[in-house]
Amino acid sequence: MKKTILTLAALTALSCAAMLGADAKAGQAGYDKSCKGCHGATGVPSPAMAKAMGVPEINSAAILAKSDADLVKVIKEGKGKMKPVTTLTGSAEDVIAYVKTFKK
Ligand code: HEC
Repeated sequence: MKKTILTLAALTALSCAAMLGADAKAGQAGYDKSCKGCHGATGVPSPAMAKAMGVPEINSAAILAKSDADLVKVIKEGKGKMKPVTTLTGSAEDVIAYVKTFKK
C-alpha cells in the first residue's frame, strides 16, 4: 500500500513537471556545467566570486520571484556583469526550472 502511494506521488510529480513544460531534473546537468562555477551548487556563490564579480545569491526570494521568462532572458542575453551563457547544451527553460528549486 505504501509503495502504491509513493508510486502515485512520483507519477503526479512527473506529470506536473511535464505540464509545466520544463524539466528541472534535466536542467541540473546544464546548471552544473554552465552556471555552478559562478553561482555555486545551490545558488550561493563562493565568497571569492561574490566579491570579484558581485555574483548575487540566486536562491533569494527576490530573484526566485521573477518570471521564468525574465530569468531565461538573463541566461540568453546576460545581465550586468553576467555575459550571455553560450555554453549551455540543454534548454535554458529547464535550467531555470532547476534554479527555481533552490528555495531556501
Ligand atoms: C561568469 C560568471 C557567471 C556565470 C557562468 C553565470 N552567471 Fe548568473 N550572474 C553572474 C553575475 C555577476 C550576476 C549579477 C548580474 C548583475 O545584476 O549585474 C548574475 C546574475 C544572475 C541571476 C540574477 C538575475 C537578476 O534578475 O537579478 C540569475 C537568475 C543568474 N545569474 C542565473 C544564471 C544561470 C542560470 C547561469 C547558467 C546558465 C548563470 N547565471 C551563469 C555571473 C555568472
